[in-house]
Amino acid sequence: MSPVLNVGIVGTGIFARETHLPAYEHLPQDFKVVAAFNRTKSKAEKFAEHAGIAEDKVYDSLDEMLADKTISFIDALLPAQFNADTVEKCIAAGKPIILEKPIAATIDQARKVVKLAESTPIPVAIAENWLFLNAAKVLKEQLAEIGPITAFTYNSTGPFVKENKYLATSWRQKPEHIGGFLSDGGVHQLALLTEVLGEVSSLSAFTKQVRKQSGTDDVVFSTMKMKTSDVIGTFTYGSAFGLCEKSVYFKIYGLNGAVTLNLSDKKKPYMTKTVGESAETKSEVQTIPYEEEPSFGVHQEFLNFHEAVAKKEKGLIKSSPRVAFHHLACVAAFLESSSKNGDNVVVVQP
Ligand SMILES: NC(=O)c1ccc[n+]([C@@H]2O[C@H](COP(=O)([O-])OP(=O)(O)OC[C@H]3O[C@@H](n4cnc5c(N)ncnc54)[C@H](OP(=O)(O)O)[C@@H]3O)[C@@H](O)[C@H]2O)c1
Repeated sequence: MSPVLNVGIVGTGIFARETHLPAYEHLPQDFKVVAAFNRTKSKAEKFAEHAGIAEDKVYDSLDEMLADKTISFIDALLPAQFNADTVEKCIAAGKPIILEKPIAATIDQARKVVKLAESTPIPVAIAENWLFLNAAKVLKEQLAEIGPITAFTYNSTGPFVKENKYLATSWRQKPEHIGGFLSDGGVHQLALLTEVLGEVSSLSAFTKQVRKQSGTDDVVFSTMKMKTSDVIGTFTYGSAFGLCEKSVYFKIYGLNGAVTLNLSDKKKPYMTKTVGESAETKSEVQTIPYEEEPSFGVHQEFLNFHEAVAKKEKGLIKSSPRVAFHHLACVAAFLESSSKNGDNVVVVQP
């Protein structure tokens, strides 16, 4: 039987309250949330009351929390600029840590996280739930039939939402993380793209700030070349436009057909496929049986981390810092390319 791991939450904000805590509560055979620390202690106390955490397990500092031997691992949900230091402290204290995406606020900090994680046997994971979507697995299963793969279009665009709870957070309004919303939300899309088609080798992009509320550039239009194959594609991201239909799709073109994932409605995603080498092939559009579970990969990411911590085997982690580094490196390349009037830019390595 797998052990119940005791979780210490650092950063008891929106996502901790609305997503991480319910996910742990959904998996009581595997996790128990036992401690909390937050910059504003009153919010941690409220969180603790809701989570059933004992009063004396609401800590005044991360250092105090790390001294608690009953905590199996730390789950940190902080603005990305605090990630590298948090990882450093956890490793020094011998505590495994899973921390929310993006991996860090800058490429230098992200390199530090990768270096720290790769210099220790202690499990360190980036909570990138999109790596765990069923979509990635099912799309990959289709590739052989429609291949060889030649190109793709990845589009995730939508209207600006004024009443967005995330937009209301001060650290998003004045982002220290590169690209603001481009790294905040864009890394999810880049995670799915690269989980299916492998890493991006180089890209050309234009980014632009459409809304002053975003604090920095909030849309990107790019072309990409993938690393291990001869695949080219376009990647478009941004939810800062005027009223338009929310449209999230990933279409992969092969020499023998195409497959399209439509994630415009996260609750009703679907996938279609056409198979044939040309327009003359007599073939119907096929709907591929596929659905996402309601946590949208969060349960799977936690269970994956659980296994790594319980077995003391960091190699089991799917969303390793090195993997998540690439997602942020693509955002950095978007910004660099755009600053050079769309020049082709190589996506950097850790
Ligand atoms: N995977 C996903 O789909 C997803 C979705 C949403 C968010 N996230 C991630 O979850 C994390 C938290 O996001 P959120 O939306 O929950 O934001 P949030 O509600 O603003 O929570 C941020 C937390 O960080 C703390 N914090 C802010 N500034 C700080 C500082 N200067 N020093 C120390 N602590 C500070 C806040 O403490 P106070 O209470 O004192 O302000 C709060 O507990 C982020 O990494 C974000 O990228 C992921």
